Amino acid sequence: MPKPSYCANEYFQRPDPCVLVLFGATGDLTRRKLIPALFSLFLQKLLPHQAAIVAFARKPKTDDEFREDLLDAVRAFAPSLPAGGPEWQNFIRNVYYHRSTLDDAAGYQALKQRLVELDARHGTNGNRLFYLAVPPDSFSVIADQLAACGMNKPVRDGACVRIVVEKPFGFDLASARELNRRLRMHFAEDQIYRIDHYLGKETVQNILVLRFANRLFELLWNHLYVDHVQITVAETLGMEGRGAYFDKAGVLRDMIQNHALQILTLIAMEPPVSLEADAIRDEKVKVLRSIRPFTPADVAQGTVRAQYTSAETDGKSLPGYLEEEGVPAGSTTETFAAVRLWVDNWRWAGVPFYVRSGKRLNDRFTKVVVQLREVPDVLFSRLACAEVEPNTLSICIQPNEGVEIRMSAKEPGPAMLVSPVRMHFDYAEAFGKAIPDAYERLLLNALLGDASLFARGDEVEAAWSLITPILETWATGEPPLETYPAGSRGPAGADALLGPAGRKWL
Ligand SMILES: NC(=O)c1ccc[n+]([C@@H]2O[C@H](COP(=O)([O-])OP(=O)(O)OC[C@H]3O[C@@H](n4cnc5c(N)ncnc54)[C@H](OP(=O)(O)O)[C@@H]3O)[C@@H](O)[C@H]2O)c1
Repeated sequence: MPKPSYCANEYFQRPDPCVLVLFGATGDLTRRKLIPALFSLFLQKLLPHQAAIVAFARKPKTDDEFREDLLDAVRAFAPSLPAGGPEWQNFIRNVYYHRSTLDDAAGYQALKQRLVELDARHGTNGNRLFYLAVPPDSFSVIADQLAACGMNKPVRDGACVRIVVEKPFGFDLASARELNRRLRMHFAEDQIYRIDHYLGKETVQNILVLRFANRLFELLWNHLYVDHVQITVAETLGMEGRGAYFDKAGVLRDMIQNHALQILTLIAMEPPVSLEADAIRDEKVKVLRSIRPFTPADVAQGTVRAQYTSAETDGKSLPGYLEEEGVPAGSTTETFAAVRLWVDNWRWAGVPFYVRSGKRLNDRFTKVVVQLREVPDVLFSRLACAEVEPNTLSICIQPNEGVEIRMSAKEPGPAMLVSPVRMHFDYAEAFGKAIPDAYERLLLNALLGDASLFARGDEVEAAWSLITPILETWATGEPPLETYPAGSRGPAGADALLGPAGRKWL
């Protein structure tokens, strides 16, 4: 058996030789995220020893012109990387441009021929990773075209062919099922890597470590001790020119169906039998299937949808959603959504999970808060000067990545003054390292063939099964669309969702 080649990071095996084909290589995602991530992996010696990148797009360009474009992109979007220097030259000389439209059979035949030539030049052994950074309506066309010229199958025994599919994966349950069906016509499930970039974030991966590498939390992690869980994905930005795209989706599809539900499954899942991809994903799917399905009445009472309106904040005037470029007049697409979910299993029976996400809010953060039940009302809470708040565990996913525990402490002095205090773990401070971009980790795992940070087909469908009835009821006008001023905390209905039980957003 050949010895695996370990790289600078001694715990990581370097991926096998491979050609990476980037569809949509002139697009925003490639320029902003994928090429900086690949260059960063190259600098860390985490790319395969023998690797080539083929950029597939339709604009006419030579290899050299395209390489110049990428240099500009890395300078603009990853200014801390040494673009232009000798390392860059070593990286970029293995990047090639392939011009074709996505539905042109001849373009795929030419690609196939080119990959064979690159195998010979770079020693990439027929291993392929196809990355679909293209508009979602092109995902299945590319899978069909790859299959039509046999590129979905390995060119030799032992070679691997994988396909990475960007988000969004489907628009509702029916379209997600159809996309799964089309992909599985040509690729086996273990060849398909569905991106949810939140799963590449260190702090999201840390949820597993926090829960299962510490005795401290597991005993409390159930309905006996947890009062409720809050998950918030808040953004200060509005549409930034993406109004036409966003208006077809809305925040429930864009943020909650994928990112927020992925976080919820990691918080609620049972310990997996191993860290293998399917062991983790089996447990996540069980959580999704345990969530109580929404009836129209549940949607009316347990969900909130809202849209931002123009407002003045800090002397700046912010446009309302309907004034944003590309948004059709009278649109009812939600820019804020909140839902109350019940995970009906032994561990979580009776514990509400509140999930909210919105654009143009007063703060930008992604955070999970697990609030424990109050202590018995017999001692300190009877003191007039005591403020006994329930314990909370907050997992901050971005920005200020870290974990915080809120507990009660006695204030120094003769009186029994009880106040909340915070214990804080800060990622950057504790480890003294920059946190890598999620796409670095996802690209690396896809090259390594580790699917644990990618969504499985049944997982995506289970998430859509839950969300689609909400979308259907919203389409009937229930509950009514609320509004909130741009730059505010969000609509009043989101507070009311927690309010009757005396809870509040933290
Ligand atoms: N941008 C982000 O930050 C981001 C974040 C998360 C997920 N995503 C997902 O990533 C995917 C790509 O997004 P993007 O923002 O990069 O899109 P984009 O800027 O519009 O780029 C789309 C790319 O696809 C190519 N393309 C489109 N139609 C084509 C055709 N018929 N033939 C050949 N090439 C074609 C374009 O080539 P031309 O330049 O030649 O038109 C371009 O390279 C989408 O699924 C999106 O949802 C993007």
